[in-house]
Order: sequence, then C-alpha cells, then structure tokens
Amino acid sequence: MQNSNPDPLAALLQAEQFIGWTCQVDYEKAVVLTSDFWKARAKGVPLNCFLLAAAGNAHAAAEREILLLRVIGAALLPLEDKQVQAKIEKFKTCKTGVAVAGAGPEDFQFGGLQCRILGTFYLQNGRLRLGSDVESFAHAAGAEVYRPTGAALEAIVNYVSPERIAAAAEEARRLGLAGELPRFPIGTVRYSSTDRQHRGDVAERAVFRLNAVDFLARRTAVFGMTRTGKSNTVKQLVSVVMRTSQEFGLKIGQVIYDLNGEYANANQQDKGSIAGVFPRDTIRYRMIPTPGFELILNNFFTQISEGHTTLKGLIEANKIFRSADLEAFLSMDFTAPNKEDYNSEAEYQRQSGIHQRKIAAYQAVLARAGYELPAGFKITFEAGAGIRNKVNPSVDPANGLTASQACEWFQLARQIQDELMTGTGADWIDPDTNVLMNLLLQRNDQGAYIPGFRLLQPFKDYHAPNRTTDVCDEIYQHLKSGKIVILDLSVGDPVQRERLGKRIARHIFLNSMAAFNSGGHPPHVVIYVEEAHNIIGRHEALTEIWPTIAKEGAKARIATVYATQEVSSIHPNILSNTENILVSHLNNENEIGELAKYYDFRDFSHSIIRAQDVGFTRVKTLSNPFVIPVQIDKFDPEKERQRAQPAAGVITV
Ligand SMILES: Nc1ncnc2c1ncn2[C@@H]1O[C@H](COP(=O)(O)OP(=O)(O)OP(=O)(O)O)[C@@H](O)[C@H]1O
Ligand SMILES: [Mg+2]
Repeated sequence: MQNSNPDPLAALLQAEQFIGWTCQVDYEKAVVLTSDFWKARAKGVPLNCFLLAAAGNAHAAAEREILLLRVIGAALLPLEDKQVQAKIEKFKTCKTGVAVAGAGPEDFQFGGLQCRILGTFYLQNGRLRLGSDVESFAHAAGAEVYRPTGAALEAIVNYVSPERIAAAAEEARRLGLAGELPRFPIGTVRYSSTDRQHRGDVAERAVFRLNAVDFLARRTAVFGMTRTGKSNTVKQLVSVVMRTSQEFGLKIGQVIYDLNGEYANANQQDKGSIAGVFPRDTIRYRMIPTPGFELILNNFFTQISEGHTTLKGLIEANKIFRSADLEAFLSMDFTAPNKEDYNSEAEYQRQSGIHQRKIAAYQAVLARAGYELPAGFKITFEAGAGIRNKVNPSVDPANGLTASQACEWFQLARQIQDELMTGTGADWIDPDTNVLMNLLLQRNDQGAYIPGFRLLQPFKDYHAPNRTTDVCDEIYQHLKSGKIVILDLSVGDPVQRERLGKRIARHIFLNSMAAFNSGGHPPHVVIYVEEAHNIIGRHEALTEIWPTIAKEGAKARIATVYATQEVSSIHPNILSNTENILVSHLNNENEIGELAKYYDFRDFSHSIIRAQDVGFTRVKTLSNPFVIPVQIDKFDPEKERQRAQPAAGVITV
C-alpha cells in the first residue's frame, strides 16, 4: 500500500492541511507555532492528533525526513525567541505562500502546541520507513507542519515496517496464500469525543486496519468500563476476521466463550448476532438442549470418566448428603488398567475384566436413573458360564444387554452376592462393582434403604445420548475448518460451565501443541474470552490452563482475545506479554496508572478518563510503535449479513 505512490513521503503532506511551523524541537518534544486560521482551515487540531513536520523543502530535496508528532497539549510560545518573533511578523504581513492565502492579518491569532515526537518517516530504497525516534533535531525547527487526514493519515496509522511486511509474506507463503496476509479494518481514526470537525467528512475518515500478523497467534486485550463497547469490539473482530479470511481463503477458527449469550443470540439493541450473520459458518453450543444449538455435553455411556466427573461435580455443587456408598461412588476411578502396570498378562486380564464389569454396572445405574442409552447401544461384559448360570442362564452379557436386562442382571447378582462370592466367582465382585450394585438396588451392605440411583436423576440433562464423539474434539474439528464456535455459557450449572470451558480450552491447546511439537502446522485459532479477570487474574496460578494458553498459545498458533473492565486485575506477566491493547473509557486513576506503564498510553490518560463515548478506543498493536485513537465500527448485523451472503435471495433466471 505504501509503495503505490512513486514518492510515498511527499504523499503524506497535504498542502491544505498546513497548520504552522515547528519553533522548538528536541529529542522528545516539539512546540508548533500555529494560528487559529490555519487550524480552522485544517478542520481543527484536536488533542492527541497526529501532525507531520517536514523539514526543509520536503517536496523536493533528496535528504528528506518528516517527523511524526502527537499533540499532547497547548504550549506557551517562546516569544522572547527572535526567530519566532520574526516568523510571526512575517506571517502577519506576508500575502503569499503556502499558508496565508485568503487570510487577513486579523485572522492570525498565534498559539503554541506541545507535541511529542513519535518518530521519523524517511525513505530507504524507495520505501517508506518509520524510525521510532528523531536522529537529529537541529534542522527541524522551522519545519512546515501539517495535520494529515484521509489517505495520508491512513498511511500513517497502517504503517508496517518492511521487516514485518516480509514476516507477513513469509507466513502467507507458509499458509499457501498467493498474496499478502489480510488486514482487518476495525474502525476509523478519532481523536476526541467532540468530533464535529475532524471527522465531519465521512469520506476523509482514515480506516484503521489490524494486521493479521499482529493478531494471529498473539494476545489482544480489550479494556473498558461496562457499556463502552468491549463486546462490540469483539463482535467486530470476529466478523471482520471471518469475512477477510474467507476472501483470502485462509482458515481461521474462532471460538467465543459467550458468558451472557450475546454472541449466540440476537438482542434488542443490536438486532442480530454473530450466529445470525454467519449462519453457515457458526456452530452454537449450549449445556442444555435447545433448538439450533449443539450440546456442549458428552455422552455418559461412551465417555465414562468424563460423565462420572461431571456427576461428581454436580453432586458436590448441590451439597447432596453423602452416604458411604455415595462417597465411594464419588471417589471411583474409571481409568482403564494399563498393561505396563502389571507383572503378568493374567493379572492384567483379570483387572481388565473387573474394569469392564465396573463400567457395565455403572452404565446400568445410569440407565436405571433414566439416562437414555445411545441408539443401538448395548451394555456388554464378560461373565463365565458358572456365574451366568447362577445369575441368569438365559442371557449372555458378552452379547450385549439392553438397559432393563442389564439392570435386572446386576440386581439379581447383588441378591445372590453371598452365593457368588463363595462359589465360582470368589472375587468376581470387586468393591466398586459392589457399591454400584448397592446404588442400583437402593440397599447398602447392611440391607438398609439408600436413595441410590435416584440421586443421579436430577442431572440427566447433562448427558447427550446422541453424541458419538467427544464434544471437545468436535469443536476442534470445527475450528480446524475455519468455523466460528460460540459456547453459550449463559445457561447451565456454573461449576460445570467452568469445568467444560476449561476442558475445551485444554483440548484445543494440547492438540495444537502436539501438532507444533511434531513439526506440523497447527490450525490458526482465535479464542475470545470475556470477564477475563476471572481466568487470567493476577492471583491465578500461571500453570492453570488459561494462563498457559495466554503465555504459550502463540507457539501453537492460538490467539487470545480477552476483555475485562479492570486492567489491574490481569496477571502482570500476561499483560506485559500482550501485543495488542485496545482501551475505551476507564473511570479511575488506578486503572489508568496501570495502563500508563505501557507504551505511550500516558498521553491518553486524560482522554480515557474523560471521554465516555462508546467505541472510542485507543489501540496499540504490535506493528504500530505508538498508540492510535480509533472509533471502532459498530457491529452492524444487517450490513454484515448482506456482505456475508451477497447472493442470498437474489436468483437470476
Ligand atoms: N463502536 C460502537 N459504535 C456504536 N455503538 C456501539 C459501539 N460499541 C458498542 N456500541 C453499543 O453500546 C452498547 C454497549 O456495548 P457493549 O455491549 O459492546 O459494551 P461492553 O463494554 O461489552 O459492556 P459490558 O461491560 O456490559 O459487557 C451496545 O448497545 C452496543 O450496540
Ligand atoms: Mg460486554
């Protein structure tokens, strides 16, 4: 983009945007001499706006450079300075030149602007480069100053160093893309809350784009008080990443941890949702059966340990009274025996048999409690002829039993347990199977009544009988094929939500890490989390899965986007490794202070605390060496829908 103009440096300077001259310059700061007339003609000079100071004859000379400045306040003019006096006098009398056409001397109310020097634009091998400091300032006093707008401003805020362009090209090649990596337009430059002048002309607004190389496999923080547009920013990101990646033929899987159901479901204010905009590419998950949603849950009959852990969590969360049998049930371990752990094949076989029976008894308990068996599912286990003849000679469990047959079989076995224990199957019934049979029969070892399987009945909805694969794996496959996965966590048991949420995150991380470690290319995945202080808060252990993803996900091509109201609540290690930071309004000095430690956010302290405008966001990205104030576009479901399916409903015959 920056190379399309034969002279990209000259293209930055717009004559009609001239606003004055530098009169004091050092390595850090510059004072700009300006007049009300020039400011008005350039449609205002808001606080925090970018200015360009072109030293010498910037349009022609070979050795040219342009300082990039940011207005950070008003400045007293050094009127004792003879040069400044001379300049002012000259302007007042001069009727020609770049600045004064049309203005009478009475229009020249002079003033000073305090500016921070952000860097120096110069040309190297015909390409625009931005150094992040100033090399020498002696010549810079008396430089013409312009306030860039439109295309010039776009070139500044979207500047990417040749090195990063090369890195992006390399990544694009790795991904098999013909051209460059995409850039995601997310908003337009905005300096101040009052934007009547500097953004009055919609056509002149400068579009800000987030580079895919900055965003993918990186960390992005979205900070701001409630209702200042964090979720909107996330929605805008999700849709622009989806749209752009489709255009470029690049698969980027996106998974949203949707705590309030605002991405999965349309609300009154926004009249649409991500799911509504990309119906074919969005898969929604929920914890309770709902039309249009997949179940986030697992099949208890096929994922034994997972189902058992879920039940354990639910029973614990519901503070159910625990009899000895229930306690024993909760502490059961359904992990299959491992061959290496046994000295002999015979012992391993014996343990495997016990394990198989235990699972069958557990499945019978689930069935008795009303958990629906998957279609065609049979409860299967081995029982020798001696046992079979004693319990029920008419069926062989090795051929598979229906739910009622299995329940009946274990109940009968429990009733003749003493006989079984003393006869052929001395150790046929292990302690866990014994407990499971007690639950089935609702009798403890002493024969007293216990609620048994009934205790599991209330949690039937957590079982997904139709699921044939692990939900985590299913989600990972969707992400691999570039879909948007929305985990609507607004319903269901909070403990389970958290557990499942973590399990999914861990699955994504481990699978992508495995691909990375085996020398492959993991898929690009972006994980969006709200209320991030709860999972990557400053008191979280960094070994937990969320902090691990935030720290190490980049290797496995996992990008994390986290949103929260509190900058100070985020773990400092994670915050300091966050490449992109987007901040809307914050309401207190503490939070601002935390942020001011990073980059040049300090310049915006005042504006962040004062301006409460929704979507008015200061953005620091990896590629940009300084903060850029941006008005994030409003996520507009209707417009997005039209863009996503341009041909929908239009049939030409
Ligand atoms: N850039 C924007 N332009 C215009 N309106 C916006 C913009 N961003 C958000 N809004 C509107 O402002 C309201 C609040 O936005 P949003 O829900 O994104 O805030 P939030 O920071 O996520 O709030 P919370 O902390 O409550 O989650 C919404 O109705 C949204 O449509
Ligand atoms: Mg929100």
